[in-house]
Amino acid sequence: MLDIFSLEGKLAIVTGSARGIGQAYALGLAKAGATLVLVDILEDNLQETASLIKEATGRESKTYGIDVTDSTKINAMVSELIAEFGKIDILVNNAGINAPKPFLEVTEEDWKKIVGVNLNSQFLMSSAVAKEMVKRNYGKIINMASVGGFMALSETAPYNASKGGVLQLTKTMAADLSQYNLNINAICPGFIDTGLLKSSPEREARLQKVYANTPLNRLGEPSDLVGACVFLASDASKYMTGTQIVVDGGMSAVAM
Ligand code: NAI
Repeated sequence: MLDIFSLEGKLAIVTGSARGIGQAYALGLAKAGATLVLVDILEDNLQETASLIKEATGRESKTYGIDVTDSTKINAMVSELIAEFGKIDILVNNAGINAPKPFLEVTEEDWKKIVGVNLNSQFLMSSAVAKEMVKRNYGKIINMASVGGFMALSETAPYNASKGGVLQLTKTMAADLSQYNLNINAICPGFIDTGLLKSSPEREARLQKVYANTPLNRLGEPSDLVGACVFLASDASKYMTGTQIVVDGGMSAVAM
């Protein structure tokens, strides 16, 4: 591996890392050399990610079974990590949820829940972690957005709105934090085959639409996103901030 991609000696937090894309990110960052802090509400499943990392790299990971919308728990975790490691180098705000529904059926509760997990949590995590990063003039924050952040995927209004918010949060954090040498970027996946998509009530019908509109003619796998995450977490991307990498099989490039 080229030295500029190495994460040797870095401490990385990945939220939503019990499964899916977050698990793939955590494993990828660990293989590039980072020590991992794994965060998810699915506390038991975090052990699976920790075991995969241990098998692949021999390194232990720290796990936190917390809800990323709980600022008290987030602040306690960050204080504990600073006391133990003295720094946090990389934060991947990956935890997210979706519950596709036609707009007229979306309730206030649906809206608050999805925006809370997908957008508010990224503010809470980034705020707590960035306050530590600025003290060392070093830090990489990677926010999970989606092509839904800039295109209208049907029947997912709260999701698209939350991901659009993530893109604006990313740009504004970049504007405010570049003076401290922090790099803040986003990743916008297309359709990736994970639990999030499996929970879709009309999976088959949605899949046919995805294939028809994706030039590479398949769903993405979590492993298809790992390169973008390692790149944004490493010094290979040190002149990038406030932008996004789209990994969608070409979906957003074509109209039909
Ligand atoms: P997933 O459902 O497989 O994994 C999400 C993880 O986040 C789960 O382990 C879940 O327990 C955790 N999580 C959810 N709410 C949480 C909370 N309040 N506190 C702590 N952890 C919580 O989903 P997937 O597909 O791996 O999604 C990861 C990210 O990628 C999300 O931000 C999602 O919006 C984004 N994304 C996914 C796409 C897809 O097609 N799968 C497409 C575009 C973006």
